Amino acid sequence: MKAIVVQQTEGNPLVWTDVPAPEIAADEVLVDVFATALNRADLMQRAGNYPPPPGASDILGLEMAGKIAAVGNGVSGWQVGDRVCALLPGGGYAEQVAVPADLLIPVPDDWTFEQAAAVPEVFLTAYVNLFMEAELQPNEKVLIHGGASGVGTAAIQLAHYAGCDVAITAGSDAKVTFCHQLGADVAINYRRADFAPIVRQKLGGVDVILDMVGADYFERNLKLLNPRGRIVFIAAMSGAHVELNLWALLRNRLKIIGSVLRARSVAEKIAIKNAFVAQFWPALQRGEIRPIIDTVFPISQVEDAHRRMADNKNIGKIVLQVKQSEFSSQ
Ligand SMILES: NC(=O)c1ccc[n+]([C@@H]2O[C@H](COP(=O)([O-])OP(=O)(O)OC[C@H]3O[C@@H](n4cnc5c(N)ncnc54)[C@H](OP(=O)(O)O)[C@@H]3O)[C@@H](O)[C@H]2O)c1
Repeated sequence: MKAIVVQQTEGNPLVWTDVPAPEIAADEVLVDVFATALNRADLMQRAGNYPPPPGASDILGLEMAGKIAAVGNGVSGWQVGDRVCALLPGGGYAEQVAVPADLLIPVPDDWTFEQAAAVPEVFLTAYVNLFMEAELQPNEKVLIHGGASGVGTAAIQLAHYAGCDVAITAGSDAKVTFCHQLGADVAINYRRADFAPIVRQKLGGVDVILDMVGADYFERNLKLLNPRGRIVFIAAMSGAHVELNLWALLRNRLKIIGSVLRARSVAEKIAIKNAFVAQFWPALQRGEIRPIIDTVFPISQVEDAHRRMADNKNIGKIVLQVKQSEFSSQ
């Protein structure tokens, strides 16, 4: 089969080339990939800063949508030809991928593969961190940094749907306007104003913060948390070293949580997927929550797709079309 391979030369170019096809275990299915999607992690892995977990494919791509091409001996309930999407530890930028059957989500009949490929990584990341790690409750107040990122656009919708007051930060007026339309009650362009006094004025404090920015926001974030507040770190894009006054933590009984999705066991990922599907999938099927697609690039233009993400231009997901079908969006 063909897949995108990262060349180990200047600039780490991405090349569509022949690689061995994956083999499936008894509890896995082989999927013909029609669409995959970018994640920030792809840029880091490409640059050599985020190696795949042990045993995972070293091909880029943390999610995909496609059609089942073969079913392992131990799999029941899935058939060749079924339309599915799934979270992957790697291997999405390819014509085929092996996936544990229990990780599959069926693609709704009226969805394109491009829509379905935009769901797994960001929705499961938003879900596990807001609702499982930080135990976000209805009517609580939540601050989501990077509101227009793939993860942010999923998190805004899930928190809004759950009945929470949502504040976000983003880096342009267009991103702020989009996040408002998506359900954010308070949306702040951090390039124009300090988010902390505005969130304080509009919401008082917040119960949960989903943060990918890290060092630059650390002190302001902690001061915004209500007693018993929780902050979840899913990245540290501005830096990872901070100074912490433990008294602030003790006095307000705060929780600081660090979280990654990719390195978790398959069993944990299945449990997260099942909980997400039970709580939110009906809302996605009804279109009340939707994957936000910024752009769809053919896989041949993967370099342009990566450049768009590196330049922070995307609002929501950048999708790669691997193969066209009657279910493709273009
Ligand atoms: N821990 C996990 O399990 C997990 C899983 C998935 C993703 N993540 C992390 O979550 C973040 C979002 O992922 P994604 O794929 O949704 O990313 P994305 O769509 O590429 O969005 C990232 C956005 O972050 C903002 N940004 C970039 N550098 C920044 C900086 N130094 N300070 C403040 N904001 C900055 C930019 O938006 P603005 O224009 O608004 O600044 C950028 O568009 C990434 O950091 C990713 O690594 C973690």
